[in-house]
Amino acid sequence: MDHFAFSMLLLVLLFYCTKTLAQSPAQAPAPAGPTNITKILEKAGQFTSFIRLLSITEVGDQINTQLNNSNQGLTVFAPADNAFSSLKSGTLNSLSDQQKVALVQFHVLPTFLSMSQFQTASNPLRTQAGNSDSGQFPLNVTTSGNQVNVSTGVDDATVANTIYTDNQLAVYQVDKVLLPLSIFGSPAPVPAPSALAKKSPAADAPVSGSDDVPADDSGTIGLAMHGMLMVIPLGVGVLSARWL
Ligand SMILES: *[C@@H]1O[C@H](CO)[C@@H](O)[C@H](O)[C@H]1NC(C)=O
Ligand SMILES: *[C@@H]1O[C@H](CO)[C@@H](O)[C@H](O)[C@H]1NC(C)=O
Ligand SMILES: *[C@@H]1O[C@H](CO)[C@@H](O)[C@H](O)[C@H]1NC(C)=O
Ligand SMILES: *[C@@H]1O[C@H](CO)[C@@H](O)[C@H](O)[C@H]1NC(C)=O
Repeated sequence: MDHFAFSMLLLVLLFYCTKTLAQSPAQAPAPAGPTNITKILEKAGQFTSFIRLLSITEVGDQINTQLNNSNQGLTVFAPADNAFSSLKSGTLNSLSDQQKVALVQFHVLPTFLSMSQFQTASNPLRTQAGNSDSGQFPLNVTTSGNQVNVSTGVDDATVANTIYTDNQLAVYQVDKVLLPLSIFGSPAPVPAPSALAKKSPAADAPVSGSDDVPADDSGTIGLAMHGMLMVIPLGVGVLSARWL
């Protein structure tokens, strides 16, 4: 073995030793320098979409600044790339810039919560998106043993694992993008399916042929998501009569 190869071998060994040492107290010391959410997610891998959203909405910078200035800490629910790819296509593109900011902030809690603290958290949790009233940005958590689920009223996600935790910042991987009611839920004035069903036939007279069509969830979600109304086969007659 020549001298160069031997030096390289030493370097590689040294690298792995320091790396192992640095990692050994599991989940302990923060990386050198200020905590950086982007760096944490880059290191974890598989979070390209969420990192991009954090960047274009500048919520990533907000998180880093807040961590530096608050003693409450923060909790971040990070959907992995496969959670984004399982969204209906166009879901993100249909959002305004402001809605994108709210969507990302909805994934951030203004306090540090360890996995066990979820068990005693009271619903609905407040997120950085603000108002947690019903119809706005409520986020509920349910736990069973070590398992934690979060529910938005639109979709349910499972906390898959802990990506990072110190006593200030917790980052958990979730298996779904958390879709807030105020953006993806049904607009408040849409009558509930039961209300439609209970109406007298006379009230539905102008909407001929639609009496038996339930205005199901997909229809109301479609309405909330602009441009997608026409691809929803159910309840179009009802919706167009009432809204267009
Ligand atoms: C955080 O990390 C990202 C990627 O590693 C880097 O581009 C960015 O400048 C860092 N931000 C700060 C405030 O250090
Ligand atoms: C964190 O706070 C310190 C002092 O309060 C400041 O000097 C530093 O620039 C801040 N860093 C970030 C990333 O905000
Ligand atoms: C969490 O969600 C999974 C999958 O939907 C379900 O099987 C499990 O029972 C839920 N657990 C809790 C605590 O809600
Ligand atoms: C969330 O929890 C609150 C309080 O228990 C409840 O009123 C609300 O219906 C729940 N929402 C969802 C979407 O589970």
